Amino acid sequence: MTLDKNLINKFVNITSSAAIACFKYIGKGDKLIADKAATDSMRNNLNKLNINGKVVIGEGELDEAPMLYIGEQLGTGNGPSLDIAVDPLEGTNFAARNLPGALSVLAISSKGNIFNAPETYMEKIAVGKDVPFDAVDLDFSVEKNIKNIAECKNKNINNIGVCLLNRPRHKEIIKKLKKLNVKLKLITDGDVSGALLVTDNKYKVDMFLGIGGGPEGVLAASALDAYGCKFQGRFLFKTDDDIRRAKKMGIIDLNKKYELNEIIKGDSIFCATGITSGDLVNGVKTNNGKYITETLITHKNSSINIVKKEVPIT
Ligand code: FBP
Repeated sequence: MTLDKNLINKFVNITSSAAIACFKYIGKGDKLIADKAATDSMRNNLNKLNINGKVVIGEGELDEAPMLYIGEQLGTGNGPSLDIAVDPLEGTNFAARNLPGALSVLAISSKGNIFNAPETYMEKIAVGKDVPFDAVDLDFSVEKNIKNIAECKNKNINNIGVCLLNRPRHKEIIKKLKKLNVKLKLITDGDVSGALLVTDNKYKVDMFLGIGGGPEGVLAASALDAYGCKFQGRFLFKTDDDIRRAKKMGIIDLNKKYELNEIIKGDSIFCATGITSGDLVNGVKTNNGKYITETLITHKNSSINIVKKEVPIT
């Protein structure tokens, strides 16, 4: 089912307001307060919308963090039934330390269309639309994925750009990538943004891979779908508690590799507003008594845009 285009403006206002709410905490060293400001704003504003919304990707579960928790009902209840995935502040360290790349993000789809993902890590791989879907795979070796991308793009391996989170868990992959002499972009945080760098050759990232948050994987998948890119994800369940939650959510095969169209089905809208400036969008700025925000919006069935909003400072 196609989502009403009029929803776009409503949801841009939600992430834009959350980014503004977070603005005063940029660089203050407290990521929890910054996250809470963005989350409270998002929840208050989502509750004003004429929608029958349900959080499927959120900030924890009801018993842990009552901040836009998974399963929370949002909106007035009058309007379309929607699944909502939220990350009010993606890159809490970026905001707390005034570093580039903090975003306020959400994605929506019709009820039942966004994968109900547990809050665990996810192994991810993403490539741009110019790489055939069968050329890369989570189960291929790093070498094979890189070689296939190089062939598809008619590039030398040493010109292939690869982005991944700089984490000890990626030590082996990084070692292999260095040996292949690819162009590495190691990011300290923010893998929604990292994954979206495959969407345009201007970012010089041909492949995103590695382990990051599962919720962030689902959010990135929504935007990547609109761009026609490939994304695969596989959840990683480390603890008994992780496994218990997964089973509660109906996941039977714990090792399943999910294709993009299993994570996000049908039409979707994705909005990412910059809190601090990054690769994708500029952060919140002030000018002449107004906040200026920039939001990347993808609507699978209509368009991809970057939209600026001006909001009076009250
Ligand atoms: P927060 O916004 O919750 O701080 O997440 C930032 C982030 O870098 C995500 O983009 C990424 O998916 C996740 O953390 C990686 O987790 P970890 O820091 O545990 O490796």
